[in-house]
Amino acid sequence: MNKTILITGGAGFIGSHVVRNFVTKYPDYHIVNLDALTYAGNLENLRDIEEKPHYTFVKADITDALDMFRVFEQYKPDGVIHLAAESHVDRSIADPTAFVMTNVIGTVNLLNAARQIWKDDFIGKRFHHVSTDEVFGALGAEGLFTEETSYDPHSPYSASKASSDHFVRAYHDTYGLPIVLTNCSNNYGPNHFPEKLIPLCIHNILNSQPLPIYGDGKYTRDWLFVIDHATAIDLVFHEGKNGESYNVGGFNEWQNIDLVKELCKQVDEKLGRPAGTAEQLITFVKDRPGHDLRYAIDASKINKELGWYPSVTFEEGLSKTIDWFLNNKEWLESVTSGDYQKYYDKQYKD
Ligand code: NAD
Ligand code: TYD
Repeated sequence: MNKTILITGGAGFIGSHVVRNFVTKYPDYHIVNLDALTYAGNLENLRDIEEKPHYTFVKADITDALDMFRVFEQYKPDGVIHLAAESHVDRSIADPTAFVMTNVIGTVNLLNAARQIWKDDFIGKRFHHVSTDEVFGALGAEGLFTEETSYDPHSPYSASKASSDHFVRAYHDTYGLPIVLTNCSNNYGPNHFPEKLIPLCIHNILNSQPLPIYGDGKYTRDWLFVIDHATAIDLVFHEGKNGESYNVGGFNEWQNIDLVKELCKQVDEKLGRPAGTAEQLITFVKDRPGHDLRYAIDASKINKELGWYPSVTFEEGLSKTIDWFLNNKEWLESVTSGDYQKYYDKQYKD
């Protein structure tokens, strides 16, 4: 083993793809996946790689500072890729404190543990913080977020992620901790938890339930296939410049209503149903408070400096995603039983 890499949040949606990529591509690394297995974490996401000898799962909570020191002491990671987070905007509106605890305090606990174990000898070490484009706030009809765009978060989720980004940079500027950041746009793909727009709509189409569109549906997001995000993280972790951040996006903007119509069309085709069947489920509902109008990423820095570009078109990515959900109905059923129903009723039925 020539390196130990600690990946936090590796049982979640994006984290599981990052873990799989690293375990598959780097047999010489010891990959340690640290995850608290909250409602969003699921070891089913990693069944295909869990027996690999260079993979270890550790159930631990990043809000527990002492436990983070223990884990870092035990595994002595050379690199950290930090994805563990509370990640859903609507949940942050209902309960901001959980977002401060995990996203802010949890990140600081990891930074402290990294400093302690690396003892300010940072050669060959790196802390990669995985963040979001939502820290930049909202765009109007024109323009793109660049790495120089000022932070202007609006939701409790984006405020907590912005705060964690600032702490990561502060540890670089103050203590010299070697860091990189990635700020990525909306992901979609296999294993996506059905609280987010795309998997929620797939789940509801399959169960003939309404497809809730907030406000007028003209809010715009830039969508990226999750495996392309995992590839970008791999590149920036290995080749990104110390202290810098990289925006990652799909060059792929959609208004929510158009995206959901496209999704309906593809699902109807795959199920061999008459066109327009799923679209009848579209229901406009009360808007999200503080809803950001538009996110769109300028990903030219990572493209020019590291040669990264999305590998699949949106049509292909969406098709692969729908196929995955159609072939993994048990996964979908298991994550939508129990507490999910309570969340769903509170969010959509009140
Ligand atoms: P997710 O909610 O699917 O997964 C989060 C994971 O973190 C889960 O496995 C969960 O168990 C774990 N976790 C939560 N709290 C924890 C704690 N206190 N201690 C240890 N583990 C904990 O999230 P995701 O969509 O995979 O996002 C991963 C990261 O990428 C987050 O940092 C998020 O802010 C960022 N991001 C997400 C998107 C997106 O579109 N989903 C886009 C850009 C950036
Ligand atoms: P979401 O998937 O929650 O990601 P984010 O808020 O991080 O961008 O939402 C994507 C877009 O879809 C956003 O504009 C909110 C909207 N949306 C709906 O219209 N209905 C829904 O039920 C959900 C979950 C989201």
